[in-house]
Amino acid sequence: LVLDYGNIPKIDCYSGKLNQVFMNLLDNAIHAVKEAHEDLENAEIRVSTEYENEHVSITISDNGVGMKEEVKEEIFLPFFTTKEVGRGTGLGLSISYGIIEKHGGTIEVESTLNKGTTFKVTLPETIKKTTA
Ligand SMILES: Nc1ncnc2c1ncn2[C@@H]1O[C@H](COP(=O)(O)OP(=O)(O)O)[C@@H](O)[C@H]1O
Ligand SMILES: [Mg+2]
Repeated sequence: LVLDYGNIPKIDCYSGKLNQVFMNLLDNAIHAVKEAHEDLENAEIRVSTEYENEHVSITISDNGVGMKEEVKEEIFLPFFTTKEVGRGTGLGLSISYGIIEKHGGTIEVESTLNKGTTFKVTLPETIKKTTA
């Protein structure tokens, strides 16, 4: 696990809800690297933060299994999961999407099959109370 925290300001947010978002992104990343690496020595999850244009961004990337294009298109839908029965609910990313939207933020994904995945969450420094 590589942490690369930039100098970011404190932001006004629903911290419990955002915590849920990052726990899910990390849980997904851990699952993805475990699937891809029998030898966890080579597994890598990077978390980095940045501050730019009054927005804070948090990037979580892994060198796990990655996603096919068809999978990537469905991941934010409720109950979409590729995990075995009993393992995934398919709700993590759809709930995360809603939480980030309430903060007036965005979530972007880049993924290459058998290479890895990057999720980038961008949040405004000041949340727009009207959308929250
Ligand atoms: N880091 C990742 N690497 C590869 N696939 C991922 C990653 N994160 C999410 N996915 C895909 O998105 C699907 C939906 O994720 P999520 O909404 O968190 O539900 P769940 O984790 O319960 O399956 C996963 O089943 C998986 O196919
Ligand atoms: Mg999940």
